[in-house]
Amino acid sequence: MKRLLPTLRADNAPEGLISVLNTLQIAAKEISFRLHQGALAGVLGSTLDENIQGETQKKLDVVANQLLKTLLLESPRVHAIASEEEDSIVLSPNSGEYLVAFDPLDGSSNIDINGTVGTIFSILPKPETPSNDESMFLQKGRHQVAAGYVLYGPSTMLVMTTGNGVRTYTLDQTVGEFLLTKDTAAIPADTQEFAINMSNQRHWSNAVREYVEHLLLGEEGPRQKNFNMRWNAAMVSDVHRLVTRGGLFTYPWDARNPEKPFKLRLMYEAAPMAMIVEQAGGAASNGYMPILDIEPEHIHQRVAVIMGSANEVQKCVEYHEKHG
Ligand code: F6P
Repeated sequence: MKRLLPTLRADNAPEGLISVLNTLQIAAKEISFRLHQGALAGVLGSTLDENIQGETQKKLDVVANQLLKTLLLESPRVHAIASEEEDSIVLSPNSGEYLVAFDPLDGSSNIDINGTVGTIFSILPKPETPSNDESMFLQKGRHQVAAGYVLYGPSTMLVMTTGNGVRTYTLDQTVGEFLLTKDTAAIPADTQEFAINMSNQRHWSNAVREYVEHLLLGEEGPRQKNFNMRWNAAMVSDVHRLVTRGGLFTYPWDARNPEKPFKLRLMYEAAPMAMIVEQAGGAASNGYMPILDIEPEHIHQRVAVIMGSANEVQKCVEYHEKHG
């Protein structure tokens, strides 16, 4: 089975990009090791701090962030990083050619229940004249040169794209290497599976309420087919399911907290996942436009997300258009 770096070289990925991806895989292996040690490593539970999003930080959020931050800032190819766990961007002492945005441990409420969590990353080119502040990160998702996620589940998987399809690697714990286990990903255009946090139903827009209501009516309703529902409460895991067998994942606008009408972050959750999904033949929208075409306004911006099987995403978008 092929190792990660030779497959990237075979794809003619630029050396600098390969180097950044190599750094990410080294960090991912270490995070995977710590997660699998679990309580033995004393890393379960929460810290006393909150991140910029006002969420309690888990100890492993901090460990994962620190690992990625340290390794990426040492890389000669990285110019700056942005992380869910950092208030502001962090400049590297090296003037590399890439910017890396990441969510070090997505779905971290799953840590304490030994559930699946993940790391999401997005790699952007450094602008020709970098501002050295947050504005250099504010590029549309279409500008990403690579994106992906690491899923820490029963096995650790790295799913990534450099704009040339989606590859899946599995961490072989015996040799400590990510080995290519799937060369392509093709999300079926149609699906009968959806993922949404149903407990927020009363806070949704009329568009999403009606869309989901029609899914639940199954064969007897306007969709004339039955749908199944899954919710892992970790975007990496829910998106991995649809990358593997199709489906629709959505975290829509809701009216719970007018200051936070969206939950997921654009730059290090929605945009990299949208690149993966589009590269696998699926679609990703905020209900009104492709996620990859959204012009970010700040690094911690939140956004509505609908992604997965192309025809189903389109259906959901039609309900948004109908309701305005
Ligand atoms: O990053 C936020 C996140 O943990 C996602 O990974 C996941 O999809 C979502 O939040 C889970 O939200 P909820 O707590 O509403 O289930």
